[in-house]
This record gives sequence, C-alpha cells and structure tokens, in this order.
Amino acid sequence: MCGIVGYLGDREALEVLVDSLRRLEYRGYDSAGFASIVRSGGANDLEVRKAPGYIDAMASEMERKGARIGIGHTRWATHGVPNQVNAHPHCSCDGTIAVAHNGIIDNHTTLKDELASKGHEFRSQTDSEVIPHLIEEYYDGDLEEAVARAVERLEGSFAFLAIHRDHPDRIVCYREKSPLVLGKGAGEGFIASDVTALLSYTNSFLYMEDGETAVVKADGISVRNRDGDHVDRTWKLVDWRPEDAEKSGFKHFMIKEIHEQPRSMHQTLAGWMSDEDALPPRLVRARTIKIVSCGTSYHAGLLGKYLFERYAGIPTTVEMASEYRYADRTEEDSLVILISQSGETADTIAAAREAKRRGMFTLAVTNVLGSTISREADHTLYLRSGPEIGVAASKTFTSQVMMMYLLSSTIGHRTGHIGRDEFRKVKDGLRSAIRAVEKVLGDTEAVKAQAEWLSSAHHAFFLGRYINFPAALEASLKMKEISYIHSEGYPAGELKHGPLALLQKDTPVIALISDDHTYSKMLGNIGECAARSSPVLVVAPEGDSEVSRYTDRILRYPWIDPMFSPLAISVTMQLLAYYVADLRGCSIDKPRNLAKSVTVE
Ligand code: G6P
Repeated sequence: MCGIVGYLGDREALEVLVDSLRRLEYRGYDSAGFASIVRSGGANDLEVRKAPGYIDAMASEMERKGARIGIGHTRWATHGVPNQVNAHPHCSCDGTIAVAHNGIIDNHTTLKDELASKGHEFRSQTDSEVIPHLIEEYYDGDLEEAVARAVERLEGSFAFLAIHRDHPDRIVCYREKSPLVLGKGAGEGFIASDVTALLSYTNSFLYMEDGETAVVKADGISVRNRDGDHVDRTWKLVDWRPEDAEKSGFKHFMIKEIHEQPRSMHQTLAGWMSDEDALPPRLVRARTIKIVSCGTSYHAGLLGKYLFERYAGIPTTVEMASEYRYADRTEEDSLVILISQSGETADTIAAAREAKRRGMFTLAVTNVLGSTISREADHTLYLRSGPEIGVAASKTFTSQVMMMYLLSSTIGHRTGHIGRDEFRKVKDGLRSAIRAVEKVLGDTEAVKAQAEWLSSAHHAFFLGRYINFPAALEASLKMKEISYIHSEGYPAGELKHGPLALLQKDTPVIALISDDHTYSKMLGNIGECAARSSPVLVVAPEGDSEVSRYTDRILRYPWIDPMFSPLAISVTMQLLAYYVADLRGCSIDKPRNLAKSVTVE
C-alpha cells in the first residue's frame, strides 16, 4: 500500500508530484522517490531521485530542471526494508524505463529468476523491480505494447505508472486490483492512487478498472480494456474541495478531522435522506446479517451488531475481514455488509468477493466514491464524511456508526420490527448526538487535563458494556495507534476473567459509562479496578453524581439518550488519544509502521 502519482503537462512536473504525493503520504511514508524526463544537451535524460523518510526532507533538496513529465511514489514497505535502493521508482537495466508501483507482485521470484537468466541485474529486494525489467524485455520501440505484454506475465495486485526516456510525451498506467484514478486539465493529465492527491488541480476524474491500461498525453487520455478495446466511460465530477485536504491552521489533520465531525455527521444524515428510498428490497428481506471489516471499521460493525439486533431484530455477526474466508458456512439469505472507509482494504475486498462467490447479497459502506469495494458490492452506501487524511480514522468512524443506526432502524421499520415513533426517535437521537458532539468539541480543556497524567502511562485499559463495548475497543485502538501506549479494550464484565491480574497503581483504566441498564454493573467494575489501586478515569454523562464516589477523575459528556452515547463518548476519546499523543510528541498523522489504506492481505 503505497501512493503513486504521475503528471504530464506545462507545469514544473516535480512541483506537482511533490505536492500531490505529500497528500498521499497517509498510504505509506517509509521512503519516497521521483522519476522525470528532462532535456539536457539536446537529449532526453531520465532522472531518478529517491530517499528513505518523508517526502518533504528530500523534496527541498531536489533541483527543479523544468521537467514536464514525471512519476512519484511514497512507500509502505512489504518486500525489502525501507532504504534508498528499495524506494521507487525502479528502473530497467539500461536506465531508460522507470516504474512506480503500488501492490504486490505474487510471482516476482519466478520472474526474477527468469529475467536474471537473461542477463537482467536487480538492485533492490523489492517485488516491484521486476516490472521495469519485464517491460524492458518486451520493449521494441512501443512502450504501450511492452506494458501490455508485461502485464500478461504479472500475478498479484498492482497499479503502476511507466515512463520511457524516449517517449517524453506519455505516461502508461495499468491497474489490477489496486486503485488508480486519472485526472484531466487543459493540456495536462494526472494520475494518482486517490483523488485527494489531485484536488487542487482538477475535480474531473476517471476511476480505472481492473485490466485497464491508460495512456496519458497532453492532448488527451485514452483507456483500453483487457481485450484492447477503447473504454468510453464518463468522467466523474468530485465535489470534495481542495481545502478539505488541507490542515487549515490545525496542527494535525487528525485534530482538524475530529473537529469536522458535526459537519461530517450532518452530511451522512443528509446523504442518507436522499439514499433511503432507493434501498434494494434484498436488504429488507435479510434473515441474518454478517458485517465484515477491519480496524476501526470493524468496531463500527460491532456497534452495528447491537443496533441491527435492537432495531431490526435480525441476528447479526461481525467478522474481521482477514478471517472471513476461513469460515465454512454459506448462508444464502444473509446480507453481508462490508464496511471500509477507503473502500480499498484488500482483506475487505477479498471478503466481498468471497461473499459473492457464496451467493450472498453484498452491501458496501464506504467514504470513497468509485472505490474498489463500491464496484464489487451489489449496492453501496456512501458516508459523505469528506476526505480523511489522518491515518487514524476519526470522522469516518462516527459516520459509519451513524450509518449503522440509520440502516438498522430503516430495515426494522420496513419489516415492522419497530414502529414509526421509535424509527423517528433514531433520527432525532442522531441529531441530538451531533449537538452533543458540538459541545464536546466546544470545550476541550477538561480532556487536555486528563491527557496530562495519562501521557506517562505505559499500559491502559478501556472498558465498556453493550454499545459502549465497541466504543471502548475503538478508544483503545486510537490510543495505541497514535500515542504508542499499549492499551486494550475490554467488555467490562470480562475484566475479572484475566486482565484484572495486570492492574496496578500505574495502569490506568478508562471506563465508559452511560445512564442505561449497564450503569450499575459498570459502577461495580469501576469499584473492582479502584480496589486494585488502578487510577480510574470515568467518562460519564453530565448530571451523574454517583461516579464521584469511586474516583475524582471524571470526564463529562453532554447528557443524551444513552442509546446514542457512543457517538459523544467516541469523540471525547478521540480527543483524549490525540492530546496524549501530542504530549508524547508522536507522529500523529502518520503513526509508525501504519498506513491508512492497507491494500495487501
Ligand atoms: C488500516 C487503518 C485503520 C483502518 C483500517 C481499515 O489499518 O490504519 O485506521 O481502520 O485500515 O480501513 P478501511 O479503509 O477498510 O476502513
């Protein structure tokens, strides 16, 4: 899972590439590199610059030589450590062809052996390096033809861009199971792994599909499918604004995105109102539901389980996408809901394919228009959260959770499981949750104060019950991924079945409570922790006085119907993780070893 970009036009290519690649760093940031074609002494030169580390570090040192064509890459290492040699672009033996690749070439070992026996020398440990060598092997003056022959030999998931020193008028790109989008301007063409990279240049996009090759030239972009036929698809206008992909004065994207939640939640709700009438009847006929997803999206799915059972009365199970394929059961009348913010997570896409193979109806819930999952699934619901750049998900999580409330209550209402009043209460509850989130974000001082003492912890436990159990898992994930504090989320009732052995005076416990049927049991669990001298931070609704008998560390969230408390609590916990990570000086938007969009299984 890397980010790739390409540019061809009248601008200084390196400027465009650096700028757009910076916006793709969420996809990987181990190392970066650029290749461009420049005129020098009456001849073309293929210039390649690459280095480990962030793009900014190398970009400032790169000389701009007026190149009008180039490709760039930001890497999340899979094969070979992150260093200069393994960074992309990779080149052919004779240094005339450069390739930037995202994905995995499964048969790279066989190809490397074959090419080595023909005299090709490999410099890196990457799988990607076989691509320029293979193109070189087939090149006979026609780059497109050489790429076409090369891709016939490649197995795996890959999107790549290729340029040739002798063809400074074109970039040839290919897509197979890794995202690639084309953008167009007047006399210029762009390519990127994701539209957010290009929003400051264009909002006219064409999402490439598997098996398609595009040739990008200044006077136009042509796309062919696997059979060599011209593809004539409509270009899509994307209404995301460039400033949505800027920090706009915030220190990090993550805190900006946390603060955007009242708006993104509104957008999800408004979008739903226009989508709900077009829901396919198959959704309503589902006898069971299986939700499949990864990471934060998995936690949204776990919350969804309680909601589908509560509002729709449909037995629901939730599975991590990477494990889904190992389950043997086939339930044809089951609805499979695939939740993926990016719509590009390889495990979730593989699960979608598996579910379809088993004959199930698939529904994708994603934030990204035209993403792979939206093309694979039978039906798609868009979150409309706006672009999320910070690697740790925030606003897309609250939108996913809202979608679970909306979908479950709508299905429940249509099947008669809940009446009109209860159905209406869900939308009202979500509106009041948005107002509660606004209040949480309006005064963050109390959260900052709690972050102070928590920032020196080495371990932490997050506890919740019922719908706040998934909220505890998500709060814990946020804490560990951005602050690097080891933390675990647990259903509060499970604590005494093991983890209690780990509680000591320097192991904080963060307990998420709401004023519902779990309240007194949560108080009991808080007491158990306090008795083991763990410092307990309770996240409680305003107006509750009981908790102060157990601890003086309390974070209040505005009182709302407990059924919607996970939304207010989750935003409070995002802030807590953020401030702890900031105090610890962590790389919040790009946590070590992680990437936002995991396109390998
Ligand atoms: C990665 C990200 C997580 C995200 C997960 C699933 O691991 O770092 O933040 O929750 O992928 O991503 P998706 O795009 O499928 O929701």
